[in-house]
Amino acid sequence: MTEALPIARTCPFDPLAELRDRKAVSRLRFADGTLGWMVTTHTESRKVLSDPRFSHRGEIVRSPIRPATQPSAPGSFLFMDPPEHTRYRKLLTGQFTVRRMRMLEPRIEQITKELLDAMTPPTDLVRAFALPLPSRVICELLGVPYTDHEFFEQNSHQMVDPTINADIRDAAGDALFGYLYELVQGKRAAPADDVLSGLVDDLDDMELTGIAIMLLFAGHETTANMLGLGTFALLQHPDQLAKLHDDVDGAVEELLRYLSVVQYEVNRTALEDVELGGEVIRKGETVLVSIPAANRDKFERPDELDVTRSTAGHLAFGHGVHQCLGQQLARIEMRVGFSALFTRFPGLQLAVNPTDVPLNVERGIYGVASLPVTW
Ligand code: HEM
Repeated sequence: MTEALPIARTCPFDPLAELRDRKAVSRLRFADGTLGWMVTTHTESRKVLSDPRFSHRGEIVRSPIRPATQPSAPGSFLFMDPPEHTRYRKLLTGQFTVRRMRMLEPRIEQITKELLDAMTPPTDLVRAFALPLPSRVICELLGVPYTDHEFFEQNSHQMVDPTINADIRDAAGDALFGYLYELVQGKRAAPADDVLSGLVDDLDDMELTGIAIMLLFAGHETTANMLGLGTFALLQHPDQLAKLHDDVDGAVEELLRYLSVVQYEVNRTALEDVELGGEVIRKGETVLVSIPAANRDKFERPDELDVTRSTAGHLAFGHGVHQCLGQQLARIEMRVGFSALFTRFPGLQLAVNPTDVPLNVERGIYGVASLPVTW
């Protein structure tokens, strides 16, 4: 039986057909050479993500695509377990309020409009729209002054761009860290109405900078790939695109399920031996929770994009204590983004053959590297 990570896709939207032939819990070789597990069913995925015997501490969680473990930076609570995680998560939940999300919505509409206004055919939708939209929304959230948004966008894109040289990517990460550290100090001196200002009394500068970087990482590439790959999927399914405006919220949920862009980033390491799906996960072994596979389990006709279906229980935002903190924000961005894009350009179409759209098959977050479109 194979222990290799299945990465080849026969169709850009279908996850890995071979996953379905795997047992619920099967062996997987991680990038550092150690043997761990992969979970492909909905039930077992939820079990792993809600069981405190599985840890997400940076120092012990292995990745199927990056050989080194990543010790968690101060404030980076995605890579911490309770009770350390709980304290940060509570503080952040207090900042991601319904009120703040409501206040952001008109700004998201405005940013979307500005980006669409600036587009001329043909264009790469990833560079012109899918990437800048979430990065400018994070600028709003963190209170990055408008005058700095170009610096912020350019460096945050480079930080996640797989096509550029690793030194340039690291330099972009360093430049952003330096920038955010200064931004945090500025917020402490003169607080405004943004997430970082709301936390200055509870956290130190390194923690706040770590949180800002984490929000940028967690919210940027994920949302960008949902917008880019989601547009590609809708263009390839005109019958579903025709129904988009009837219930955009429902369509967004189905796109989240169908595309499951977070393909290799949801991993946990056992803190003790745990019985799971007929196997014993040994203490210290890492488990990859395959969100694309879990989101194809339990649903009828799972390989069909059906924007009218019920998607209740999908795991695109994870499950358990680490379930996505930014999900309401991401939903607003996708609702506003898809609605405005297809209203503004009803004749939007691919400018290349669908088989020529480059896919990021090996990245933790799946998606299109570029999407040439015209109208
Ligand atoms: C469609 C876009 C998005 C998707 C598919 C997505 C998906 C996910 C998933 C699967 C997790 C859980 C990871 C795990 O359990 O290991 C997660 C966590 C997280 N997400 Fe998102 N996310 C999206 C957008 C955002 C946005 C816009 C933000 C904020 C600006 C955000 C902030 C976070 C944070 C802070 C966590 C960690 C929560 C914790 O550890 O308690 N995400 N996301």
